[in-house]
Amino acid sequence: MNETPQAGVLLSMRLSVRYGDRPDVLRDVQVNIRRGEVLGLVGQSGSGKSTLAMAVLGLLDRKQASAEGSIVCEGRDLLRLREKEFRALRGRKLALVLQSPLSALNPALKIRTQLKEAWRAHASGTPADCNNAVRLALESVTLPSTDDFLRKYPSQMSVGQAQRVLIAMAVMHRPALLIADEATSALDIITQAEILTLFRQLNRSTGMAILYISHDLASVGGICDRIAILHQGQIVELGTTEQVLTTPQHEYTRRLMAAMPKIPQPQISPQEKTEAAAAK
Ligand SMILES: Nc1ncnc2c1ncn2[C@@H]1O[C@H](COP(=O)(O)OP(=O)(O)OP(=O)(O)O)[C@@H](O)[C@H]1O
Ligand SMILES: [Mg+2]
Repeated sequence: MNETPQAGVLLSMRLSVRYGDRPDVLRDVQVNIRRGEVLGLVGQSGSGKSTLAMAVLGLLDRKQASAEGSIVCEGRDLLRLREKEFRALRGRKLALVLQSPLSALNPALKIRTQLKEAWRAHASGTPADCNNAVRLALESVTLPSTDDFLRKYPSQMSVGQAQRVLIAMAVMHRPALLIADEATSALDIITQAEILTLFRQLNRSTGMAILYISHDLASVGGICDRIAILHQGQIVELGTTEQVLTTPQHEYTRRLMAAMPKIPQPQISPQEKTEAAAAK
């Protein structure tokens, strides 16, 4: 199931990717990412989700992977950009948040240094401008911007705080598109819910589009406007979250739905019910 390009679209892709001489990992995937939307990309391990993300970000190893098609963003085909041109876009117009926040941060550098470096990568100004941008970025992800916090090393933070720091870096330059690749998969369920809420708040307050990648259909329901289901390198279903979750059209989506964990209901016998009612 594929899409044709249309107005209000930030990025329009038609993409096939192959590693070496193995069969295509992505097979003529056609997806549009609309301005300001949260698009979920769901599929099981190995379906090609990260390959798609890496292609959008120009991070596919050109020696190993060959990509065909086009990824058009604001009039430019990202597949045809040179690395130098990509470096100006990555971290500014296109941002990425990955799964393991503690390994994505540099363990040897204080948070303040890492946030400042992220700012200076795409902006110039006085030290006061930089400090101000760092403070605003931390506030946007509801972290303290106190000296005590800024002096911390990654190992002195919780994994949820580390993920917020990475999100602060990613949104610092107000990207048009944030790609979150399994960004909540390594978190406990409460922290996961908090980070999902944060993504949604940032999407609403800044208008940035989010491509939210997950193997977990249950986690995307609360955050995405639309969901695309990727199966063996092809989009088999694409629709609003409500359509996909309430009236899935493809057999594979139905299988994913059936595999979603259900909260077990306590089994109460009719006699126990009567006893409980009598005890009230
Ligand atoms: N650099 C590479 N060289 C060769 N094959 C690769 C490379 N990267 C990924 N692949 C293969 O491409 C397929 C898709 O991998 P990809 O990482 O895109 O899947 P995914 O949907 O992100 O999976 P996961 O949910 O486990 O992250 C897999 O079969 C994988 O083994
Ligand atoms: Mg992946």
